[in-house]
Amino acid sequence: MRNFDYYNPVKILFGKGKIAEIAKWIPKGMKVMMTYGGGSIKKNGVYEQVMDALQGFDIVEFGGIEPNPKYETLMRAVELAKQENVGFLLAVGGGSVIDGTKFIAAATCFEGNEPWDIVAKGARVNAALPLGAVLTLPATGSEMNSGGVITRQSTLEKLAFNSRHVFPKFSVLDPMVTYSLPMKQVANGVVDTFVHVMEQYYTFPEQAEIQDRFSESILKTLIELGPKLIHAEKPNYEDRANFMWAATMGLNGLIACGVSQDWSTHHIGHELTAFNGLDHGITLAIVLPGVMNATKIKRREKLLQYAARVWNIDTDQPDAADQAIARTEQFFNELGVKTRLSDYGVGIDTIDRIEKRFRERGDFALGGIDDVNVDNVRAILTSRL
Ligand code: NZQ
Ligand code: ZN
Repeated sequence: MRNFDYYNPVKILFGKGKIAEIAKWIPKGMKVMMTYGGGSIKKNGVYEQVMDALQGFDIVEFGGIEPNPKYETLMRAVELAKQENVGFLLAVGGGSVIDGTKFIAAATCFEGNEPWDIVAKGARVNAALPLGAVLTLPATGSEMNSGGVITRQSTLEKLAFNSRHVFPKFSVLDPMVTYSLPMKQVANGVVDTFVHVMEQYYTFPEQAEIQDRFSESILKTLIELGPKLIHAEKPNYEDRANFMWAATMGLNGLIACGVSQDWSTHHIGHELTAFNGLDHGITLAIVLPGVMNATKIKRREKLLQYAARVWNIDTDQPDAADQAIARTEQFFNELGVKTRLSDYGVGIDTIDRIEKRFRERGDFALGGIDDVNVDNVRAILTSRL
């Protein structure tokens, strides 16, 4: 196992009715800016629950944060937060709203001239407004991590940033608020969580037994739950609760402790969203099987561990590794997520743009391990047409 530092200060308020408790965790007298997305919270009762819980606080609202939150939109929120002298941010929504709010928190306190540098150049974040979150879509893990992914409309760039200053002070995970999710978003969330785990697990054996078995338990839970969630006639509380916790555990840093990681599927996926607007989860379902195929020789040992422990495949069979890759793709398909670029009308022109962009950025290894790199990204994507 490698050396590691682990720090996670996020208070989790999990379960039915927990939104009612948020006022306890917001400093009294703070002006609160409540941020949200395109309006789903106004249709499913979450907005009212939050407003009831915040009685007595001075509240400013900022709605309209779009999926794959845009820098241009978020900078309007930064202006508003400064104008109104906001002291606390409350993100109510999915990963996009939470990520966007993390950026607002950092950009409001940013001392440099160009807040985009936080994302594009990794400019140092020395302070941020404190924030809390009410999660409405299990998927990204943003509710319990210190990362965010922001898109710049004018340049079609989608990039991640990270700062310990943007860990939420608390996050509410009430499975009931997921009942209004369209099935497509449930499927995206299952795929996103699955791929987060894979990016932290599918590398090399490093004798990190706890982390490996945690990862495998999340993957197996998703394999069991995914089809149940998608095919249920009506939402089942326990299934939603397990899904919500799986998504949070998938990307809160715990399973990444002491192991190698490879985030290439995400990095390639972000480009597909930037250029073609594909949902985040969909891009991952397309790219992961290609990445697994391209790395299956170098990472054979871990792939066989995955095959045996996650899919119960007999690894004495010569094609066990290929079976594991096929089962992974089939799982995404069973959730109703199509896994080919051509299913979404994406062709060679996008592959050209993506390869060019990675070359311009000059990073050789796309996600941390050099078996997925600027020289084979074209082949990986072409194999997914
Ligand atoms: O905007 P509203 O009206 O709220 O509707 C949203 C949006 O249209 C809807 N929705 C959310 N909760 C709902 C609901 N509809 C009905 N009922 C509910 N309870 O779902 C749509 C998608 O929401 P979004 O927040 O975009 O989805 P998700 O949570 O999948 O977030 C995706 C973003 O997170 C980034 C992605 O790149 C993408 O930008 N990621 C962030 C990560 C992180 N911070 O650690 C890691 C991830 O890998 C990911 O990259
Ligand atoms: Zn993701």
